Amino acid sequence: MNIVGLSGGLSSPSRTKGLVTSIVNEISLAASHHVQEQIIDIADIASALGQTFDPKNLTPKLQAAYSAVAEADVLVIGVPVYNASYPGLFKHFFDLIDPKLLEGKVAVLAATGGSDQHALVLEHQLRTLLNFLGVYSAPKTVFAKDTDFSNYQVNSSAITERIRLVAEQGLWLARQHYDAAPVQLAAVAAYG
Ligand SMILES: Cc1cc2nc3c(=O)[nH]c(=O)nc-3n(C[C@H](O)[C@H](O)[C@H](O)COP(=O)(O)O)c2cc1C
Repeated sequence: MNIVGLSGGLSSPSRTKGLVTSIVNEISLAASHHVQEQIIDIADIASALGQTFDPKNLTPKLQAAYSAVAEADVLVIGVPVYNASYPGLFKHFFDLIDPKLLEGKVAVLAATGGSDQHALVLEHQLRTLLNFLGVYSAPKTVFAKDTDFSNYQVNSSAITERIRLVAEQGLWLARQHYDAAPVQLAAVAAYG
């Protein structure tokens, strides 16, 4: 199983990256078989991403990021809230994707913010974006505030518990989804 984390912030070090990494690690622990892990950080590709407007002109580093995402069995997608939304460059990453690239993927969603005030960004923005791209996301999400971290790592028992829950859901969804894939594809074909 190939688990890929995508951290959507621009800062380094980053609480969002710490949270995404914790969720990826938890899914790895919960999976009973061999697992490969990788973290893509928008902060690492921000400069190339911001200068790319045509998906045919990807730099090798951007191409590698898209390939990793395309090959993931489970995606862990985390964003910091910037001005009541996800960061613009995170959205730009998806705007360059062939809309069909992520169809049928399984994802776990997470976000970080200064307060709880914008926690619903997860539901009305991040999940909406991924629904449009045909991604199956786990019903529970993780939202962590700055006070839930120390030294950019999760330092809250409530968030740690929540991470366990979403990891279980993500894994369950991945198993159901990949086992059921031929049936689902047949159903899709039947309805055109
Ligand atoms: C440009 C900018 C805008 C932000 N806007 C919000 C906001 O609207 N709501 C919120 O809860 N936090 C906001 N924050 C706080 C970040 O979401 C929060 O500190 C987050 O943990 C940062 O994650 P990071 O360590 O991965 O950068 C903002 C931070 C920045 C830099």
